Amino acid sequence: MHLAKKTSVLALVVGVLFLTGCKFQYGIGYNQGYSPEQPIPFDHSIHVGQNGIQCQYCHNQVERSNQASIPALSTCMNCHMLVRGDSPFVQKIQQAHAKGESIQWVKVHMLPEHVKFSHSAHVQKGVNCQTCHGPIETMQKVSQFSDLSMGWCVNCHRQPENKAPLNCSTCHH
Ligand code: HEC
Ligand code: HEC
Ligand code: HEC
Ligand code: HEC
Ligand code: HEC
Repeated sequence: MHLAKKTSVLALVVGVLFLTGCKFQYGIGYNQGYSPEQPIPFDHSIHVGQNGIQCQYCHNQVERSNQASIPALSTCMNCHMLVRGDSPFVQKIQQAHAKGESIQWVKVHMLPEHVKFSHSAHVQKGVNCQTCHGPIETMQKVSQFSDLSMGWCVNCHRQPENKAPLNCSTCHH
């Protein structure tokens, strides 16, 4: 979108929000519960719940960048060089790694392009993964826990103890 058009859309929306008393009631239930099939059934409850592996061991960008990032196969191979070599899924990982290929994980969470989000800003202020992603350590298959609507973001930013910014440009390009 051109900047001028974008600005006028934002101006219009601001106007509407003021007229309606600034109640953010966007898109309740956007993809909430979305849980696509993955090319390999990766199970967080085995890795985190039963084996106590820290989130950051795999999602190792989450404290310093906007993205949490999905681990490379070399991270899996730290264990699966040996662990469960009899499993056809683990064999698939080993073969892909040997050929220098990657696994095409299907994205679960997806904000629209006009939204800016930063993991590090939240994680560094002590907001837990589970506050936003729910009990991942019990999930055999990841599913989207929060609705990721604007109302969800803004309601938390609005809590006085969070001192989080509310201006539009915080979250929009
Ligand atoms: C052993 C590695 C490993 C650990 C430990 C791990 N994850 Fe993951 N995580 C993955 C992989 C691989 C995927 C991609 C496949 C999938 O979505 O299930 C993933 C996917 C996710 C997703 C969905 C990503 C998307 O596409 O939107 C979230 C959210 C997530 N993990 C959060 C966590 C949290 C929170 C913890 C700790 C409680 C954690 N993970 C621990 C490997 C790991
Ligand atoms: C304030 C809420 C919030 C917190 C806290 C949070 N996440 Fe996320 N996470 C999100 C949102 C929103 C997305 C979707 C981002 C997008 O589409 O750009 C996401 C996406 C992800 C993804 C998919 C890859 C990516 O970066 O887009 C992974 C993996 C993930 N989160 C893991 C974690 C882990 C691990 C933690 C804790 C260390 C964590 N998240 C803390 C809200 C949060
Ligand atoms: C720190 C060690 C460790 C890492 C890193 C690790 N795993 Fe595992 N994984 C395990 C353990 C332990 C088990 C459970 C073995 C058992 O008792 O069945 C397991 C089980 C599995 C299984 C189930 C196998 C089956 O057929 O039952 C899959 C699939 C799997 N892991 C995929 C992955 C993927 C993909 C990654 C990288 C994103 C990864 N693992 C990273 C330790 C690890
Ligand atoms: C559970 C509470 C919570 C939720 C949900 C939440 N945030 Fe935040 N957000 C915070 C806190 C706390 C901060 C840190 C404020 C500070 O730096 O003092 C923050 C900071 C930010 C920042 C960095 C601001 C800056 O300039 O430093 C951005 C960008 C942001 N949030 C966007 C989002 C978006 C987009 C969503 C929804 C997809 C969201 N947040 C959901 C609590 C939350
Ligand atoms: C804390 C983060 C945050 C703040 C602050 C924020 N937004 Fe949003 N906004 C989002 C997210 C996330 C979405 C995407 C989800 C949705 O549409 O509910 C969104 C969506 C939108 C949309 C698209 C709605 C649709 O139906 O497609 C518009 C327009 C918008 N915001 C305008 C604004 C304006 C104007 C402000 C300032 C008054 C503002 N936003 C402040 C996070 C935020």
